[in-house]
Amino acid sequence: MSQEVKQSIVRRRTWRSLQRRNYSLLSKMLDECFNDNLRRMTLDTRAFLLKAISSPQAARMFLDRLPDVLVRCNEDIYDLPLAAEAYAYVHLVDRYCRWWQVFLLLLQGGRFPIRRSGIHALDVGAGPGPATYALMDFGRAINEIALLFPRGHEIGQLYAPPPTVELAEASPAMSSFVHQLSEERGRGGPYGASIRDFYGLRILRSKHENAQYKEQLIRGILDQDEISYEWAARLLQEENPGWHLPERYHLGMVGNFLTTPDSMAESREALSHIKQVLPPGGMVLVMGGRGRLYPMIYAELEEVMSGLRHAWRNREMCTQLTPPQLIFTKGYICSIKAHLQSFGIDVHGISQEWPSNIRDAYHRWWNPNAPFVQQKFSVQLFRRPDGHAVKIDRRKR
Ligand SMILES: C[S@@+](CC[C@H](N)C(=O)[O-])C[C@H]1O[C@@H](n2cnc3c(N)ncnc32)[C@H](O)[C@@H]1O
Repeated sequence: MSQEVKQSIVRRRTWRSLQRRNYSLLSKMLDECFNDNLRRMTLDTRAFLLKAISSPQAARMFLDRLPDVLVRCNEDIYDLPLAAEAYAYVHLVDRYCRWWQVFLLLLQGGRFPIRRSGIHALDVGAGPGPATYALMDFGRAINEIALLFPRGHEIGQLYAPPPTVELAEASPAMSSFVHQLSEERGRGGPYGASIRDFYGLRILRSKHENAQYKEQLIRGILDQDEISYEWAARLLQEENPGWHLPERYHLGMVGNFLTTPDSMAESREALSHIKQVLPPGGMVLVMGGRGRLYPMIYAELEEVMSGLRHAWRNREMCTQLTPPQLIFTKGYICSIKAHLQSFGIDVHGISQEWPSNIRDAYHRWWNPNAPFVQQKFSVQLFRRPDGHAVKIDRRKR
């Protein structure tokens, strides 16, 4: 077979086949990338927290929020002083690892979402952004690996534009946390949330709603320029001809958001809209706990998502850090505790006032000698089946 024919075969492979055929080598290289990214994420979060906790008062408020971010995560606590920081301290790195693991598993099955024109994702109830940061870093890692290979190599063909991610987040403090952490990371955004209330998200608009939306866009143009109404309408048409098209997401990431029957019920309509415009190959991933109310929540979710393929049903997973990664993570946890103590705060004395199960959980977490418990979690994957096989053009670099 001539070189030219061989190359054209390589170019015609689907993303799925490229991922599956090369998974074994990719996963080894991605393990190294994960190591670097985990370190970076941990150090950047630490650097940010050290700056945010800059006085004895801040240290005390931060400490007071720690029980809340374990017990009251389903309540409106995130705009309390230092609550976003406390939540990030406890959950961000761990959940970042979880999402990375989910993406690795998708890659293994050939389903990590990649498109020639880049994917557009939505992070629902983003909090401090673990899903978004993991997606962006994972995508970047694949690109870095792809660039190590010659152009004709299959792995080189996996190069794609980085994903764009929109965040839906109700708490301004969380949104601002993400903005500042992104600055600390120095890797480009996200710089906060663009959707404030996920429950109210309506991607599909009726004729009447479209007319109202058009009016709103025209009024926006009129506010900026002193021109006639007709001229503003023409400008809208010229500059944004697709204004009436629904926003399509290729990937919805819902992490620890559908945690109560109420949040599930409130999300029905918004999730249904996302489903209806989900393109072929598009997917919605829902990460959460197991047991208690979850079977009920997931049953309702399945009903809302009917029509999509329920590819992972309650897939049970567990973070799998290597011993050096666990030691490193423990170091981060303990260094923040030491920082609180450096302000003369009696961390252990104060924690005696907390409910005993919460106090014990933190004491174990802070104890450098106590084994690190890697939590189990559950993932649902809903997919719109592929349409035609994707033809991959030569990448643009
Ligand atoms: C338990 S946290 C989960 C954060 C993150 N996804 C994670 O996995 O760690 C839930 C987040 O959803 C946000 N939230 C609550 N109601 C919301 C709504 N209606 N729209 C958008 N975000 C909301 C909260 O402010 C909070 O940051």
